[in-house]
Amino acid sequence: MVSKIIPIPPFDCIVFGGAGDLAERKLLPALYHRQCTGQFSEPTRIIGTSRSKLTDEEYRNFARQAIEKHVSADDIDKSEVDRFLKRLSYVPVDATTDAGWDQLKKAIEIPSVKAIRAFYLAVSPALFGSIAERLGKNGLVTDDSRIIVEKPIGRDRETATKLNDILASVFHENQIFRIDHYLGKETVQNLMALRFANALYEPLWNSAHIDHVQITVAESVGLEGRAGYYDNAGALRDMVQNHMLQLLCLVAMEPPSANTADVVRDEKLKVLHSLSRIDSHNVTTHTVRGQYKAGASTSGPVGSYLDDLKKDKSNTETFVALKVDINNWRWAGAPFYLRTGKRLATRMSEIVVTFKPIPYNIFGSEAGEIVPNRLVIRLQPDEGVKQWLMIKDPGPGGMRLHHVPLDMTFADSFPVRNPDAYERLLMDAVRGNQTLFMRRDEVEAAWSFVDPIEEGWEATNMPVQGYTAGTWGPSKSIALIERDGRTWNDTV
Ligand code: BG6
Repeated sequence: MVSKIIPIPPFDCIVFGGAGDLAERKLLPALYHRQCTGQFSEPTRIIGTSRSKLTDEEYRNFARQAIEKHVSADDIDKSEVDRFLKRLSYVPVDATTDAGWDQLKKAIEIPSVKAIRAFYLAVSPALFGSIAERLGKNGLVTDDSRIIVEKPIGRDRETATKLNDILASVFHENQIFRIDHYLGKETVQNLMALRFANALYEPLWNSAHIDHVQITVAESVGLEGRAGYYDNAGALRDMVQNHMLQLLCLVAMEPPSANTADVVRDEKLKVLHSLSRIDSHNVTTHTVRGQYKAGASTSGPVGSYLDDLKKDKSNTETFVALKVDINNWRWAGAPFYLRTGKRLATRMSEIVVTFKPIPYNIFGSEAGEIVPNRLVIRLQPDEGVKQWLMIKDPGPGGMRLHHVPLDMTFADSFPVRNPDAYERLLMDAVRGNQTLFMRRDEVEAAWSFVDPIEEGWEATNMPVQGYTAGTWGPSKSIALIERDGRTWNDTV
């Protein structure tokens, strides 16, 4: 089976922060890859902007280096790179003053082709409002325009609402694309297929048959030069409010009646509204916060969070574990355990759905332990799905039972390059398909779940537990799940 490329109409992608880190690592490589598939229609242009005073030529050099550094050598074709660079131009623009906006307007409006305009804000969230307003004020927003913003959307419900109000004063909600790049990951997409293109799982997809669900997003990296942002955010805001709650919603939501943006997002919103509140009353039993101490990463010895931060003191969590109950008929009694952290034992993200044990063992103890079935949906590093089942050990020797994975790893079944999440998300934004983007009410509802946890931590003075870099986090997070007679799935 080959992947199908759906051509998209001509567009202008205007990247604010065009000479920044996200543009270099993700956006320019993603756009290059999409060009190589033949998906673009002409004329498609990419206009970089930022405060730096670069010329077109300097920007093209920046883009060439970005491609050489972040695209695998096998995918680099000199004539494609040259063709790509010809699409690029650069306009210095100051997001906080009027400098450069006239030039940007000229660059976009010449030639006078009616192209879709995708304004990508790869800049500090502090600039989102000011850029959106200036886009409006300078008459750059047409009916065919979209604005694409990265998380964080605010740092709590109040600031998120304010920002959403500003965006809404310039763009309609159907023009606002709030990226959660986890939704663009191949396996996350496949979760939808698994649940709603198979009859097998849906009848079992509830607390009568599922014991609990675990969602782990473990990172081996530390701060990676983002100390300022991270220390102000922490793992709960950085990962749980968005990526992890989005994953939880996709696992927990009711079957949508169509795979269309608002229908899917309505279902996710219902889940967010059903989350059992965690606040000062139960924050100490339902959450664990941690901060890494010096230890070892996959690449050798590493310092502590405070070393990385170059500070003596910080109460910011680099690890968080939560027990989340969902108050509805489908999930009451089957908790979701979430954990995420930096400087953990390895880079691994997965969703583990553990089914209930069999009601009665007819085989006796000599057959060995009967382990409950598990569905493991691995997002990274090795994407795939494994359904763990009990089978008879092959051959003679009587009835001995064995726990084995039925491996549905896509890389083996479909030998195609997996597009990076940004490739899919950028093209969806140009197309105007919002299914994989967060609607404003979802973002605000997610903050409504997260804010009382932050407040609860403060009200109870809940300490951050130290954990050694290179481990699976504080021992209290193991206790969080083991108290309920369950264990984290740490087999990597
Ligand atoms: C980002 C967070 O949203 O996701 C980072 O801000 C984190 O702190 C990153 O490292 C993880 O993304 P991925 O795709 O590498 O799992």
